[in-house]
Amino acid sequence: MARIPGSSFYEKLSRRLVRRRPPETEDTGSEAEALVEPDGAADAASSATAAGEHGSRSPIYLAALLGGFALIGAALLATGFAGTEDAIEQRHKEDLQASLSMVMPEDLHDNDPVVDAWKFSATGDNSRMIYPAIRDGEVTAIAYRVTGQGYGGAILILMGVSANGELIGVRVLQHAETPGLGDKIEAEKSAWIENFSGLSFGNTSQDDWRVKKDGGRFDQFSGATITPRAVVKAVREGLEFFASYRDALTTLPKKTSEANP
Ligand SMILES: Cc1cc2nc3c(=O)[nH]c(=O)nc-3n(C[C@H](O)[C@H](O)[C@H](O)COP(=O)(O)O)c2cc1C
Repeated sequence: MARIPGSSFYEKLSRRLVRRRPPETEDTGSEAEALVEPDGAADAASSATAAGEHGSRSPIYLAALLGGFALIGAALLATGFAGTEDAIEQRHKEDLQASLSMVMPEDLHDNDPVVDAWKFSATGDNSRMIYPAIRDGEVTAIAYRVTGQGYGGAILILMGVSANGELIGVRVLQHAETPGLGDKIEAEKSAWIENFSGLSFGNTSQDDWRVKKDGGRFDQFSGATITPRAVVKAVREGLEFFASYRDALTTLPKKTSEANP
């Protein structure tokens, strides 16, 4: 098929483009020339620019636009956060319930220890949440958290104690100990934490509440004594807390979220 010279799209487009010299530029030759759009487009652009100078590109307009976007972004974030907050809280509750069932078996209670949790307030750092196991209207056991200072930082521990002061179970909830060294305090990594079950001040002497290296009954880990030493100390102090406030701790909680013994 014969080709008509100058009929291609690009040739048509290039014909429409005109070389125009900027008005303020002196006629200094070809260097000052610039390719611009055809008249119609150029007029539209220049009128838009003129409008922009007095409207859409003014600093106030831009600031308002930016503020609007920021507000929309913040609103979207807030909506997303509110949506996930409930889910996170529910997840925490389930995690806590799972941990509590490890240190206070179900046959010890017919209540929900999380729902009946109450805050024990005492002087010093002895204020803590108490999770009571209640069966037939009697407190059969309680669970609470204690904290030890390990090699990597705080070790958060949950301990369940029967109403007569015997350790039912102990679980590490959170720690920053070194994997392969200090993390054997986790029930998933070793059975070491099970050694506390059944112990009390009645059946274990004060000297025994130490790691073997310090003359006690608890194994230290190979190359890692600091971590088990910290856990034994924290659990012993947890039992001292129970012994100090036993009556208050094993009395049925008041029907408020906080109760002072
Ligand atoms: C990188 C590194 C990480 C360590 N992590 C732990 C740890 O998690 N828990 C621990 O008890 N010891 C850890 N240790 C060893 C302790 O420094 C210490 O030597 C060991 O606990 C023995 O303590 P002892 O001298 O009181 O018996 C770590 C050592 C190094 C070099």
